[in-house]
Amino acid sequence: MTTQNFPPLKNDRLLRALRFESVDTTPVWMMRQAGRYLPEYKATRAQAGDFLSLCKNTELATEVTIQPLRRFELDAAILFSDILTVPDAFGLGLYFEAGEGPKFARTVRSESDIASLPKINVARDLDYVLKAVTSIRNELNGQVPLFGFSGSAWTLATYMVEGGSSKEFRHTKEMMYARPELLHALLDKISDAVVDYLDAQIHAGAQVVQIFDSWGGALAHRQFIEFSHQYNRRVISELKAKHPDVPVVMFTKGGGLWLDVQADSQADALGLDWTMNLAKARQVLQEAQKSLTLKNKKVQLPKAIQGNLDPMTLYGTPQAIKKAVQDMLNDAYVFEKTGYVANLGHGITQWTNPDHAKAFIDAVHEYQL
Ligand code: CP3
Repeated sequence: MTTQNFPPLKNDRLLRALRFESVDTTPVWMMRQAGRYLPEYKATRAQAGDFLSLCKNTELATEVTIQPLRRFELDAAILFSDILTVPDAFGLGLYFEAGEGPKFARTVRSESDIASLPKINVARDLDYVLKAVTSIRNELNGQVPLFGFSGSAWTLATYMVEGGSSKEFRHTKEMMYARPELLHALLDKISDAVVDYLDAQIHAGAQVVQIFDSWGGALAHRQFIEFSHQYNRRVISELKAKHPDVPVVMFTKGGGLWLDVQADSQADALGLDWTMNLAKARQVLQEAQKSLTLKNKKVQLPKAIQGNLDPMTLYGTPQAIKKAVQDMLNDAYVFEKTGYVANLGHGITQWTNPDHAKAFIDAVHEYQL
């Protein structure tokens, strides 16, 4: 596969911040920035029929990716798709039931379930995602960089074992504690698919990638290292060997407690949810990187951070949102005035007033560095 010719990037603030280069103002984007809080998204989804048809329709997936960029001065676009395309490509039969979230027709719980998972061929099984990436990159015409993404192996495994969303992760944790070797075999297969998937997205036009470990925080600390972090580290290392210049953002929801562990993840940046103070995050990361450098005798590159406004803050008044942004940026810039990407601590909710999303984005840009 050859990397295609795309127009030059006009706004490289996000890439500069991730590389710790100087920035004129703070780059900002929002997780789930294309979604149901926008009436134009709902109209396009209705036109597509349903969510999955929207993901599979190149033209409409491009349209909904661009919609938030027409309203707000965002510094990045993110591919419109879903992390559950990968379990679907494993043949599990993804579907969405109105109001109930994602479901799978088949689950993966036994040794033979895992052994019989097919090897994903991304170009064949996920071609609709790659087509969307290229189409969005062309449509952006260099306006802002485009994020590709994947779920982490652990987070994808929870959906594959449970057969949908879960609060307790009963079956996944049963496998983890009763048959850990089975879970490792599953995580191994998913990790291979994630590397291929992100590699293909980069070839198709993604300029930066994010790994969503939405359920990393559901693990105990030793299990986080063994069943989530180790696989994230491996996936990112393999990807970095192929694409050393494409930044990787690792977002672990509930992962603030384990920044010292994640300092060793090979990611360029760590995404944080709202439970973490950003000044403290900077401090923990600096110390962890110093001690890793001493241990490995190899200088550890500084890690940028991303996040972490509580999405519910956007239910407050524009004035309250502005104050919350100022407090957050004061914390983020405690040591140096780059290496930071403003974002929410998780996806924007469907009940958010779009004008309040605008207040968030404008407040980030108005903050004087
Ligand atoms: O950020 C973006 O704008 C890009 C698009 C994107 C979606 N899902 C679109 C989507 C991304 C990056 C995701 C990632 C995703 N999907 C995650 C990781 C991020 C996170 O939130 O932790 C997870 C866990 C999923 C799985 C998933 N997809 C769930 C649980 C649901 C239902 C959620 C709900 O609010 O109903 C989805 C569906 C989904 N994915 C929607 C969107 C816009 C809503 C579907 C709709 O239009 O009805």
